[in-house]
Amino acid sequence: MRDLDQALEGRLADLCDEGAELAARFDEDVRSKQWHPFLPANYRVVLQALVARRAPDVRFLEWGSATGVITIMADLLGYEAYGIELDADLVDVARELALRNESKALFAAGSFLPASYRWKPDGGDGRMGTIGEGASGYDELGHDLNEFDVVFGFPWDGEIDMMLDLFRQHGRADARLLVNMTNDGVHEYRDGERHA
Ligand SMILES: C[S@@+](CC[C@H](N)C(=O)[O-])C[C@H]1O[C@@H](n2cnc3c(N)ncnc32)[C@H](O)[C@@H]1O
Repeated sequence: MRDLDQALEGRLADLCDEGAELAARFDEDVRSKQWHPFLPANYRVVLQALVARRAPDVRFLEWGSATGVITIMADLLGYEAYGIELDADLVDVARELALRNESKALFAAGSFLPASYRWKPDGGDGRMGTIGEGASGYDELGHDLNEFDVVFGFPWDGEIDMMLDLFRQHGRADARLLVNMTNDGVHEYRDGERHA
């Protein structure tokens, strides 16, 4: 991959493979028995988006970090990387994966919704879809949402408007929101607008 030294490229490729194995195991052990909102993004596509945007002193947050693969990739690429995940068992998996990969990525068990946030769309239907409720994870991370330069989320269908609204209300105006689209790569938003 452009701009990456071979050793790092190898570590990232191994991490993507291990992430795919963890997701397959999760499907078998958990999702085959009951519905769960964890579906993995296409790690290699997200990796390209992170490589293209890496720079010194960039603080990164993954909303709903699941097994931690994307947050750990960001850390290995030099971002100051954090993840928030509601399912505490997945947070344990992410922390173990970070240890195995000698990563400094930090994870909080909790919600990526700040405590004061309410979703009030124009149409009035403020149901949250698959996004669950829980104590906000920002205190544990020691950073508010407006202290992150790059935020990544993988919404289920119909949930992107809520993510954009949350970012408009609580993100910093010059920060970037990267949204993984199921069949259309990663879209970048800044100040409410989509950027190419
Ligand atoms: C579609 S999955 C994406 C997982 C991961 N970002 C990836 O791309 O591989 C969404 C994740 O968000 C988590 N989640 C749902 N509601 C949440 C909330 N309010 N706060 C934090 N995580 C949440 C789910 O448990 C799930 O792991």
